Amino acid sequence: MNTNRLSKKIETILNHQVTKEAEAAQIYLSYGCWADSEGYGGIANYLFRHSQEERDHMMKVMQYIMERGGTAKIDAVKAPPANPKNLQDCFEKTFKHEVDNTNAIYEIVNLAHEEKDWATYNFAQWFVKEQIEEEKLVLELLDKLKIAGGPKASDESLLNLDTQLGKEPDSVSLAREANTENPE
Ligand code: FEO
Repeated sequence: MNTNRLSKKIETILNHQVTKEAEAAQIYLSYGCWADSEGYGGIANYLFRHSQEERDHMMKVMQYIMERGGTAKIDAVKAPPANPKNLQDCFEKTFKHEVDNTNAIYEIVNLAHEEKDWATYNFAQWFVKEQIEEEKLVLELLDKLKIAGGPKASDESLLNLDTQLGKEPDSVSLAREANTENPE
């Protein structure tokens, strides 16, 4: 009896996503190491914490595959890209990685829709929402850097930014979830 509730294509695309989330975790780790080597200990801490969040995403997809009777596969991960040139480059590249990941999630949604696999479609919605948060988080980093002076930021404002990001929470609240009791 076939107990796998996932089609071969869905199982494959979900397993690719497991690898993509693992790669995202490595990218954040690698950028964190770079930030630390540049003296930005707070930003490094922030990126390391986010790396852990990417691992949590990886686990979530992996567990879903197994729950549906599929077989999760752990594949090789690509080496992280070269170090960024500066903070602006670091945050811009991070944003691009997140958009790339959002597109990968949309492919899962499209395939689940095509196959009328509503369980996977529903599961993927969590990630659609999460990616809004992930992109917003990085956009906020870019905004903060812009306020600090962008490419012309002084050492003092970069130090302040570094200290602030070291204490920043790991996630942001979504504006569309605000209500009168919780007006964020
Ligand atoms: Fe798992 Fe940053 O997306």
